[in-house]
This record gives sequence, C-alpha cells and structure tokens, in this order.
Amino acid sequence: MDLDLSGKKAVVCGSTDGIGKATALLMAKRGAEITLVARNEGKLKATLGELSVAEGQNHSTVCADFNDIPSLKEKVKEHFTKPVHILVNNSGGPHGGPLIDAQEEEFRVAFERLLIANQIMAQTIVPGMKELGGGRIINIISTSVKQVIPGLGVSNTIRGSVAQWAKTLALELGEFGITVNNVLPGYTSTGRLDELAKSKAESLAVTQADIEAQWAKNTSLKRLGKPEEIASAVAFLASDAASYINGHDVSVDGGRFGA
Ligand SMILES: NC(=O)c1ccc[n+]([C@@H]2O[C@H](COP(=O)([O-])OP(=O)(O)OC[C@H]3O[C@@H](n4cnc5c(N)ncnc54)[C@H](OP(=O)(O)O)[C@@H]3O)[C@@H](O)[C@H]2O)c1
Repeated sequence: MDLDLSGKKAVVCGSTDGIGKATALLMAKRGAEITLVARNEGKLKATLGELSVAEGQNHSTVCADFNDIPSLKEKVKEHFTKPVHILVNNSGGPHGGPLIDAQEEEFRVAFERLLIANQIMAQTIVPGMKELGGGRIINIISTSVKQVIPGLGVSNTIRGSVAQWAKTLALELGEFGITVNNVLPGYTSTGRLDELAKSKAESLAVTQADIEAQWAKNTSLKRLGKPEEIASAVAFLASDAASYINGHDVSVDGGRFGA
C-alpha cells in the first residue's frame, strides 16, 4: 500500500494538540511538508520543532483563530499563495451540556468555528488543488454524525451540517480529482476528552475514572482511542492508497455502540 506522502504539501488545522497534532506528526514522518494552523504561537512553535524533517521539508505555521473569520480570511490569503495537496479541517469542539439549555451564541460560535472556517479553508485551497490536478480534503468530525452523544447537544447539531457540507463538496470536486472524506473519532484520549470527562463527572457526582471506564465499556475494544490511531486513518485517506475513496464517513471509534 502506498502511504508515502513525500513531496506533498499539507495544511493541518487545529494541529497543536490531540488528533490534529498526531496527524501533523504522522504526515511529516511520511514525508509531507506541513503548515500547522492554530491560535497559540507558543504551542505552534513547540509543535513545529517536533515535526520530522527527514525529507528536507520546510514546515511552517499560521497563527489563526477560526472564531475570528475576518482575520482568518486575511491570514489565509496572505499565507496560502502556493498550491497545497492535502487539507485537514479540524478545530476545538463545542462545550457540552443539554441541548435545551444551549444559548443562541453557542450555536453561532460552533457553526463559525466548525463549518464557516472549513468553507474558508476549502475556498482558499481548492483552486490550487485544481491546478495540481487533484487533492485531498479530510474533515475531523465525530461519531455523533451516526449516533448522537448525550450531553453534547450543540456539537451533535453542528456536526451533522459539517458532514452534509463535506458530502456535497465531494460531489462537486470529484471530477477534479479532489476527494473529500470525513474521519469520525470515537472517545479519544486528548485534552478535549479530559475536559468533557471532568465536567460530566462533576455533574453526575462520580469520578472522572468512572466516566472514562463507562466510555471504554461502550466500545467493542473496551478502551479509549489514542490520537495516533485517528491520525493513522487521516494519513491513509491523504495518501495515494485512498485514491478511489470519496464522500465517506470513516468511523475510528473502537466499535462504539453506546454513549
Ligand atoms: N477527543 C475525542 O474524543 C473526540 C471525539 C470525537 C470528536 N472529536 C473532535 O475532534 C476535534 C479535535 O479534537 P481533540 O480532542 O484533538 O481536541 P483538542 O485536543 O482540544 O485540540 C484542538 C486543537 O484545535 C485548536 N483550536 C481550538 N480552537 C481553535 C480555534 N478557535 N481556532 C483555531 N484552532 C483552534 C487547538 O489549538 P489552540 O488552542 O492553540 O488554538 C488544538 O490544536 C474536535 O472538533 C473534537 O470535538 C474529538
């Protein structure tokens, strides 16, 4: 299987922590030249220093906030002037809580960060992919696209629209050799999951370990995932080996069957 990414340029969003960071590290190891995108300069610099340069890559960073759309538009225009082969759309997830209690602003913020930002990234990068004669767009969403997760009302709602956005894009861009696929992580041990487990434990007056044990029990593998296991699927979809996969939701969730 050809998983090599040598000579490819990849933009990995939300790539200073968790799933995005693991993806950037793996893709660099497989030879890709990475542009990291996230909000925190210090974490961008630290992650940049961890990327493999074995293929002589010249990795870079873009410090941008997906909740500041005017500034994001300026930054992408300034930085992405050359064609890119791979775009990984990823960012922070919305706050948890019952849907009925969610405020309007929570929906706006999540929609902007998870959907409008994806649209801006795609609009910026797709013309270059067309010039190259092909490309890969991979969106990190959530298994809530298939089975909603209790207590993540805003996230469940917005993720559905991101999945539909991606499938429509896959239909539109296939003829240009550009594939668009979604990776749906299950419970994956990252800073985000840690926060969710803490807040759920507080609201149910149990321990964080109890919550995590319950999540693990609800997978057929009986454990939480590692960010590297999600990254592995993303890097596969970005490779030549995945050239005939388009418009799909790929669950990487250890066989999650409950919430
Ligand atoms: N972990 C799981 O179990 C799980 C399961 C299903 C779905 N997901 C989803 O997968 C995605 C990644 O999750 P994760 O667990 O890897 O999250 P994470 O560890 O919290 O990492 C999020 C990354 O996104 C960046 N980011 C956050 N807000 C941003 C913003 N407004 N603009 C630009 N960058 C931003 C963060 O860096 P800065 O803070 O420096 O910007 C960080 O690099 C999220 O959408 C999450 O909801 C996660």
